[in-house]
Amino acid sequence: MRLILLGPPGAGKGTQAQRLIHKHDIVQLSTGEMLRAAVAAQTPVGLRAKDIMASGGLVPDEIVIGIISDRLDQPDMKNGFILDGFPRTVPQAEALDDLLRKKHIRLDAVIELRVNESALLSRVETRVAEMRARGEEVRIDDTPEVLSKRLASYRSLTEPLIHYYSERRKLLTVDGMMTIEHVTREINRILAAIGAVETQATPRKPAKMAARKTSRPVGKAAKVAKKASKKPAKTARKAGKATSGRTRKAARASAKGSGKRPARQGGKAAKKVTKKRAKA
Ligand code: AP5
Ligand code: MG
Repeated sequence: MRLILLGPPGAGKGTQAQRLIHKHDIVQLSTGEMLRAAVAAQTPVGLRAKDIMASGGLVPDEIVIGIISDRLDQPDMKNGFILDGFPRTVPQAEALDDLLRKKHIRLDAVIELRVNESALLSRVETRVAEMRARGEEVRIDDTPEVLSKRLASYRSLTEPLIHYYSERRKLLTVDGMMTIEHVTREINRILAAIGAVETQATPRKPAKMAARKTSRPVGKAAKVAKKASKKPAKTARKAGKATSGRTRKAARASAKGSGKRPARQGGKAAKKVTKKRAKA
């Protein structure tokens, strides 16, 4: 499974990525986390990124593209990955398309977590409280002032990706205002519907209703989702065929027993037998 999680700061990209990688045994590629590690380790990349991140701006494209390109070459990528926070600009998305094309990797979907802006500040405040409670160092950009700058960057530079991926029929939108658990369930349902993961044996009706209510599959992804949602019906038809096949066999067997010829036994095979008998 190869996925991009798209959404404003505090939308829940990191939270959902963590839940999904454990369920599907894949890798999370968070450029934010990688950059924070580089800042902490004071690497050349970290030194360049530090002030930009602290001010809520975006690190130059060539730096993050370089990081992702190197990471995609690692062997642990083979099962799949979730890109969290990358791409964040149209040039980054174009560079990713090139990278994936060269590496013969196909992207399954881009999932946009749509969240009301008014909810983002309290989410970031929750994260600050959670990190403090765990004894971790709080993120330098988790303040109301920097959050509003990160949001401005998101609106002007990252939001155009919604159109970019929608045009390429990769975009799927999930209501990120639901509880964490519900968002995860919805993402998993969508992934199963587009065939990115194995379908779970869930009842069909409620899943269909949830789809109408909470997600907005677009283009090809939507068609695939529709097709996948019809699968159980197909399987049921196949099962029906198998059953009628069995019924026919049973009918033949009982006809044999009763000495009567089953209705569909007038084909080539039957003619051959008659010719042989005539010869004999
Ligand atoms: P990055 O680390 O990617 O930050 P971000 O995009 O601003 O997103 P966040 O990590 O703040 O939010 P999230 O969506 O992961 O939410 P989370 O799951 O934690 O980037 C940081 C900086 O690095 C950037 O500003 C930039 O400078 C630089 N950078 C990174 N990538 C770059 C790139 N590609 N190009 C250039 N620069 C780059 O959730 C937040 C809180 O909400 C948590 O407490 C969580 O428990 C809670 N929560 C989550 N979901 C729900 C829910 N459904 N209901 C209620 N609470 C929820
Ligand atoms: Mg994050």
